[in-house]
Amino acid sequence: MAEARFNFPRGFLWGTATASYQVEGNNKNNQWHQWEQEEGRIMEGDSSGLACDWWGGRWREDFDRADEGKQNALRFSIEWSRIQPEPDRWDEHALDHYIDMLRGLDERGLFPLVTLHHFTDPLWITEMGGWENEAVPELFAAYAEKVTDAVKSYVTTWITINEPNVYAALGYLLGEFPPGEKHLGRTIKVMTNMARGHALAYHKMKAVQPEGRIGFAHHYRGFSPKRSRNPLDWLTASIYNRAWNDFFPTMFRDGKARLVGRVISIPEAKGTQDYLGMNFYTSDTVQFSLAAGLNNLFSHRAFPEGAEVSPNGMIASVPEDFFHALEWALQFDVPLIVTENGVEDRKDHLRREYLIEHIHQLWRAVNFNYPIKGYFFWTLVDNFEWNKGWTHRFGLWELDVESQSRNRRKSADLYAEICEENALTSDMVRRYSPNLFEKLFPG
Ligand code: BGC
Repeated sequence: MAEARFNFPRGFLWGTATASYQVEGNNKNNQWHQWEQEEGRIMEGDSSGLACDWWGGRWREDFDRADEGKQNALRFSIEWSRIQPEPDRWDEHALDHYIDMLRGLDERGLFPLVTLHHFTDPLWITEMGGWENEAVPELFAAYAEKVTDAVKSYVTTWITINEPNVYAALGYLLGEFPPGEKHLGRTIKVMTNMARGHALAYHKMKAVQPEGRIGFAHHYRGFSPKRSRNPLDWLTASIYNRAWNDFFPTMFRDGKARLVGRVISIPEAKGTQDYLGMNFYTSDTVQFSLAAGLNNLFSHRAFPEGAEVSPNGMIASVPEDFFHALEWALQFDVPLIVTENGVEDRKDHLRREYLIEHIHQLWRAVNFNYPIKGYFFWTLVDNFEWNKGWTHRFGLWELDVESQSRNRRKSADLYAEICEENALTSDMVRRYSPNLFEKLFPG
């Protein structure tokens, strides 16, 4: 049978994404380490410990894995609490460590995508009230400026803040992340200050590196009404979409945006995204329910019916919604980078299918000329999954945390073929996920 190919444009970035706290190990000067020490906060009482031991130098072997896996890009984050361990001290050794990593990427031909804030704050920031404190956006911008100045000859493309919506909602509304609050007003405050933090950082970074491309990584999640004819379900789904999906990128386009019935205005945020970073995993249906209460925005959420769900029940595979997310992103009129996409699946049963179907949708979007520049799979090697500890495994490579040995999953081979060919082919689908063949290549 003739081979079919879903080709990607020349120069397309294919990488994996990681975050400092999840991979470095021995990361003790931030609020997540403190949170880990409290009983019951992390599933199974797990702790991050050495994580993937990148701080101990194992980034070298993992960068080799990315390189041998034919990737041409890698996303990692710089840990604020290492660079600025105290309010009035910059740690130049820590900066050198990251410069070594950036050289390591360069030597392997891996394009760096660097995040400045991925959920962790230095303890001294937490002690002053974290992102609820109006002074924190300026402090974050000063740190962003310091790092940009130090590494600007290695990095052109930046993520200021990873998923401010997740940070705010899980920490201040749902109580699953530190500081474990459940308060809508405080959530809104944190979201507003994070938007300001991004905006101030953007301007300071541009001043030291005018050619830098600066954006943020947005967690998009699809919300649709459970009962398609029920107006209250529609209304609730649209409130979710506005607050969760629209707020940050609209703010960074216009300098103002609506949040739960209020217009929030931050003039300096206008025009502060050179591209949009999109993290996409899954979608929900939303059903109105008074009994669910204000913190749940009077609604119950559930995965779309019929979608395949990951082993721990965290992610439903809804590839068409990935396409819709990319379509939604066009309104911001900037290039797009898929900065995260993946699934927890220790046994690697669902991951190959998930990967193939999502890359297929990505290709559809590219084919419609959506301005998509790259794709970063979450993640390279199993890493510390926040409050889920080591129970949720997202890696192309499996990690034995104790021995630090890595074991390649089949998905790693599949992804390597996609990266090498700059395409998804019918032959790959036949070999890695034969049951998808008819769906992707009908007739
Ligand atoms: C976060 C990652 C996390 C991943 C999987 C994203 O929301 O940016 O840090 O590991 O989802 O849950």
